[in-house]
Amino acid sequence: MNVLTGRRILVGVSGGIAAYKTPELVRELRRAGAEVQVVMTRSAAQFVTATSLQAVSGNPVRDTLWDPAAEAQMGHIELARWADLILIAPATADRLARLAHGFADDLLGAICLASTAPIALAPAMNHVMWQAPATRRNLELLAADGVHLIGPEVGDQACGETGPGRMSEPADLARAVTELLAQGLEGTARAPVHSIGQNQPLLGHHVVITAGPTREAIDPVRFISNHSSGKQGYALAAAALAAGARVTLISGPVAESVPVGVTLVAVESARDMHAAALTAAPGSDLFIAVAAVADYRPSTVAEQKIKKTDRKESGLSLELVENPDIVAAVAALPDAPVVVGFAAETHDALAHARGKLSRKGLDAIVVNDVSRQDIGFGTDENAATLIWADGEITLPKQSKADLSRAILDTLIELFMPRFVRQLANTNPDNAAK
Ligand code: CTP
Repeated sequence: MNVLTGRRILVGVSGGIAAYKTPELVRELRRAGAEVQVVMTRSAAQFVTATSLQAVSGNPVRDTLWDPAAEAQMGHIELARWADLILIAPATADRLARLAHGFADDLLGAICLASTAPIALAPAMNHVMWQAPATRRNLELLAADGVHLIGPEVGDQACGETGPGRMSEPADLARAVTELLAQGLEGTARAPVHSIGQNQPLLGHHVVITAGPTREAIDPVRFISNHSSGKQGYALAAAALAAGARVTLISGPVAESVPVGVTLVAVESARDMHAAALTAAPGSDLFIAVAAVADYRPSTVAEQKIKKTDRKESGLSLELVENPDIVAAVAALPDAPVVVGFAAETHDALAHARGKLSRKGLDAIVVNDVSRQDIGFGTDENAATLIWADGEITLPKQSKADLSRAILDTLIELFMPRFVRQLANTNPDNAAK
């Protein structure tokens, strides 16, 4: 049974252009089994009609505190009590401000104030409004209240500009809501899905990470692979998300779960990963190659399972050909993002890593000693040295989550001016400033 089956979701619609996506969101939630009631603000009616929201939700849509007939049926206090979760999509800058300060001068504001249900917001606004100091302050207040934030995404905006502030897609919102309710958060202390607040240095930036092993097929049932668990790459994805970035995780097959809010691109072979990386990396700010990519693949893949009887007297030989070097290909892109590699070494670690740094055209490389049993592949801890052109820093043994934060902090310190320039490049207005 789906987590959303029978759950009561109150969808609040405020007045932004993204409201045209709300009927699709309501349909997604209902398809997943949720009961939905919609409350819209006066300005939302400029962008979407109550009739269509009523049709998709199967319930009358409420839009005012002052409708005696509607209040007689289900008053705003009852609606506030009815909800297992309140999702405001889109949440405009004005709505964030009202919510942060507890305004109750319209139906949606009054319901939010009168409810103990978790509140999730899907912000949607122009990127300058999203980054405005007043919006930042309101987000900090809302974060302190435990309001959950889903998105926003970075991308083309209705105003014709590009940047952070685009509402997440209905399917992504429905997934995030499922995750929230699966965590059993209703009625308990609220904790943000995206941590929001002051410490979001990567807000508005796109980070692409490769993780896990690749699988190189021999025949339909066999492959060549390695011991990579994906733990370090997934921990870095979570750390980048917490730092405010939009994160794309290109991952080979692993058992790790994908942090909510991270976009997963699942791949198998090195060539799949190469194609996915070259699709995601252009326009991104930071590319971190954590994947343990198979350097070689069988030159041919048998169409049918190789049988023991196929082998020759001398046994069975596999001819291997080299795979493309993914991180070097990204580093060679025109307008490449900041590119960071990982090197797992068993001897002469620092010298080998410096060689890879220059050979692959990287900005930095994280090197660790995989001959140590207590760290690296499959374990929860790791120690590393982060090396760049004219410096290095030793990061002692710690959890992969802490190490990820330490790596990101150092990368932000070293390369932030380049991230900022790239954000400016994607927005002609900023570039002119
Ligand atoms: N890498 C990559 N594509 C490949 C091989 C490696 O993107 N085909 C990346 C890894 O994700 C890692 C870095 O390159 O960030 C170094 O990987 P490593 O396997 O240590 O490098 P190799 O060039 O394969 O060197 P070695 O001879 O040590 O195997």
